[in-house]
Amino acid sequence: HKNAVIAPSILSANFARLGEEVDAVLAAGADWVHFDVMDNHYVPNLTIGPLVCEALRKHGVTAPIDVHLMVEPVDRIVPDFAKAGASMISFHPEASRHVHRTVQLIKHEGCKAGLVLNPATPVEVLDYVLDELDYVLLMSVNPGFGGQAFIDSTLQKLKAVRERIDRSGRDIRLEVDGGVKIDNIGAIAAAGADAFVAGSAIFGAKDYADVISRMRAEIDA
Ligand code: DX5
Ligand code: ZN
Repeated sequence: HKNAVIAPSILSANFARLGEEVDAVLAAGADWVHFDVMDNHYVPNLTIGPLVCEALRKHGVTAPIDVHLMVEPVDRIVPDFAKAGASMISFHPEASRHVHRTVQLIKHEGCKAGLVLNPATPVEVLDYVLDELDYVLLMSVNPGFGGQAFIDSTLQKLKAVRERIDRSGRDIRLEVDGGVKIDNIGAIAAAGADAFVAGSAIFGAKDYADVISRMRAEIDA
């Protein structure tokens, strides 16, 4: 597979000094900044919007910002995030009336487009849209909170999605989000993931570089 991508979720960062936290994880070897957007409607939690994304860009962050939308409706906020500097935008099919249209909108706004599958969302949701996607984000927890336990059935689902991506012959990343730790990231990689979101496992540690390098070692093992 392609080079593994580590995407720390800033949901577990210290928001009182977010710019420094993002600088620190990037200096520690992270590839993308995973940006969790929650609206207290689609998910039972409320986080950050385009203003904070724009603030990170103004702070000098040049790494890809991986915006994970857990909001309903989706379309209205997409252009705002594109203008705020999002590089990639993913959304949940349950939150959009017209999934194909939302994918086109994200790409029209100049961002890479991803579809997010909840733990109970069947992989068949990809059947008629996979060819339009730049990445698939597989949830290994129910969306809404950091620090939850990895749901083991995700490993089987990862294999199923990996087969579909390989069959498509297209360059589509397979990202996993939720409960990713040093001790399970090897199995997650073996099941077919090539991009790894980790919030509490990275920001909960003292030494970000140490966690990220251990994660890479497990992925490569
Ligand atoms: C959950 C978010 C995740 C979460 C991951 O709704 O989408 O990105 O922050 O946090 P950990 O790695 O702590 O499970
Ligand atoms: Zn996320």
